[in-house]
Amino acid sequence: MKKIMTLAALVFVSALAQAATFTIYTDRPTARVQHVADLFKAQTGLSSVIVELPYKDLLQKLKTEGDSSPADVIFTKDIVYQAELAKLGFYQPMNMNKISSVVDRSMRDTNNLWTAVTFRARTLVYDPNVTDVSSIEKYEDLAKPEWAGRLCLRTSNNSYNETLVASFIHRLGYNEARSVLTGMVANLATDVSKSDTALLENIANGICDVGLANHYYLAQLVAQKPNFPVRLKFLDQNGRGVHVNGSGVGIAKTSKSVAASQKFIELLMTDSVQIYLSEAHFEYPAATHLLPTSLIKEWGTFKSDKANWTEIGLEAEKAKKLVKEVGYL
Ligand SMILES: [Fe+2]
Repeated sequence: MKKIMTLAALVFVSALAQAATFTIYTDRPTARVQHVADLFKAQTGLSSVIVELPYKDLLQKLKTEGDSSPADVIFTKDIVYQAELAKLGFYQPMNMNKISSVVDRSMRDTNNLWTAVTFRARTLVYDPNVTDVSSIEKYEDLAKPEWAGRLCLRTSNNSYNETLVASFIHRLGYNEARSVLTGMVANLATDVSKSDTALLENIANGICDVGLANHYYLAQLVAQKPNFPVRLKFLDQNGRGVHVNGSGVGIAKTSKSVAASQKFIELLMTDSVQIYLSEAHFEYPAATHLLPTSLIKEWGTFKSDKANWTEIGLEAEKAKKLVKEVGYL
């Protein structure tokens, strides 16, 4: 039996090796994807070409290339990106048999077009030496008048806030989401920040008392400056759970190496790669049985919103419309 298995494995590997070069399209840093590509080569004999571009350029490249795109897998950093690629038909369905036992259903596409790889919380940040946030339980609380002139937000036109606003629409309905966002915009302490890091610096410098940021930007600052005063609070722990967003991967519609693509995605889900990527980005592994090993482990576990990522992604266009309606720049 063992001999038969070995032979079967050899036939599989040699079939993969005959395929064209394996091509990974990503907006994630090449250096980190390269580590996975190296493991993939050791496993399958296939060399990878990594095409790293900002998402908008990646999308344009896929559109321009059409059916002749060499892409085998597409690995991006955000729900709204995966949702857009799915909507535009750039993915083909994958076999979720192995992945479904690793990644929570909420973080997998309902049509099996993509799966989460790592995830992050977008949540409350504040300086505990300056601000008591015990009255803030959920996102909606940031719209209350007591926070007038005290809130920092990042610009609305980045994927993290597009996804967050889409999640508000998904959970609250359009009208309620509009009133929450209107209240938040009315509470702004200063102009919207150009990045999460700038927002966190604003809080550290006393320009605002509270804000919303991805947890890993705080982790990066704490790693660089252990005395950085800002902390986070996971929101909505008595309700729907904190909003989470994440990187995701799917098999490109154009892939001629579907078996290899499937193998690559399954490799991303292995414990060692999950922990590697989690440490590299200070993100949480999508594999539900794993806990992070970097400094974020000290922040403890939390309840995350189990709203399905595909359904959140479907609200992305409405989210773009809503931020304009309420004057959120
Ligand atoms: Fe980021």
